[in-house]
Amino acid sequence: MSSPNREMNRTAYAERLDVFQTSLWLEVDAMVDRHPDMIFFGNGGPAKSLMPADRLAEATATVWSEGLDMLTYGETEGYAPLRRLIVEQMAKVNAPAVAEEILVINGSQEGMDIIGRALIDPGDVVLVDAPTFPDAVRIYESHGATVLGMPMDDEGVIVDDVRAMLDRLPAKPKFIYTIPTFQNPTGVTMSLARRQALVDLARERDILIVEDDPYSAFRYEGETLPSLRALDPATVYLGTFSKTLSPGLRVGWISAPEPLYRQLFGLKEVMHIGNNRIATRLVYHAANGFIDGHVAWAREQYRARRDTLVAALEQYMPAGTKWLVPQGGFFLWVELPERYNTDDLLAAAADNGVIFLPGSWFYPGRTKHNAFRLSFSSLDPDLMAEGVRRIRLAIDQAG
Ligand SMILES: Cc1ncc(COP(=O)(O)O)c(C=O)c1O
Repeated sequence: MSSPNREMNRTAYAERLDVFQTSLWLEVDAMVDRHPDMIFFGNGGPAKSLMPADRLAEATATVWSEGLDMLTYGETEGYAPLRRLIVEQMAKVNAPAVAEEILVINGSQEGMDIIGRALIDPGDVVLVDAPTFPDAVRIYESHGATVLGMPMDDEGVIVDDVRAMLDRLPAKPKFIYTIPTFQNPTGVTMSLARRQALVDLARERDILIVEDDPYSAFRYEGETLPSLRALDPATVYLGTFSKTLSPGLRVGWISAPEPLYRQLFGLKEVMHIGNNRIATRLVYHAANGFIDGHVAWAREQYRARRDTLVAALEQYMPAGTKWLVPQGGFFLWVELPERYNTDDLLAAAADNGVIFLPGSWFYPGRTKHNAFRLSFSSLDPDLMAEGVRRIRLAIDQAG
């Protein structure tokens, strides 16, 4: 008699799968049904109403009218006109690049995996912002890295602390992964002085920087700062159309200087044979002559959403709560007094009909417990005040 367990026991999973045994999204999904009209502050994508559906439909028709080249294998590096358009987009956020070093990929998160494969040997150290984008940590850990957090404040990564960390480490880290502009999850933008100091430190210690930059097109006030890539051309840069057009497209890119570019290209070829020729043409035709106007319009919508959320926080959050009003991006980070644990608070909030993402999820090792992330990019602004009121109820219940 065959038993499912016996079948399962035949599977000897690789150790790297350990890091996938917990998923923040599964934990949150399990809570969504706890309330009939759940208000969800978790989604870091654009609202459906802010994605250019009609333009994407037109672009789809254009792709299909262009002949059948797109149906074949090929273009590992990506569709040539799209690579040139990406370079133009990067120039607008002060991130210089050339088309020959653009590798188009299936969303920028794939870039983390390709970079991890290319650079990490088991036991290597990778430095990340603390807090940071949790999937990046899981990806680097899945490649065998020990991921350590670099302390941050309202000006971004504290470079003096990073220097002290480097002095203490037995070997230099393989790379530094950072989100300097409208960071996920804090919304913090690294100051120009800190950018320069980080780039100088990395150059002095011969450490590669990977700059993840999904949000810089959405600046609501202040001046565009030079990207790390602008300050040091050795920086590897990750970009995406997920926030400016749609995450469903799964089109992003890596910009990496030679000789690293060649290695990443080789990995992409092994992983996917070629690029997604249909999606990359679709993105090109949708973006060409359109994306700047669309982003300018969407930026105003996001700015209004941010302001609505800030007003709600001012109205409902208890004394002693801190938040930084982000100059751009999709996220707002709220810090409660130290005694609160937002992992526990989430369950109470879900019972009250609201979901946020607890801060601990964003720290390697889940070390800090009194913060939470609110995303204002996708939630209907009419629900924000009620959502924050429900969070306040949960805070009051926690005492
Ligand atoms: C910092 C950061 N990097 C990467 C991603 C993933 O982007 P993509 O859809 O391009 O894979 C996200 C998505 O939320 C993000 O916040």
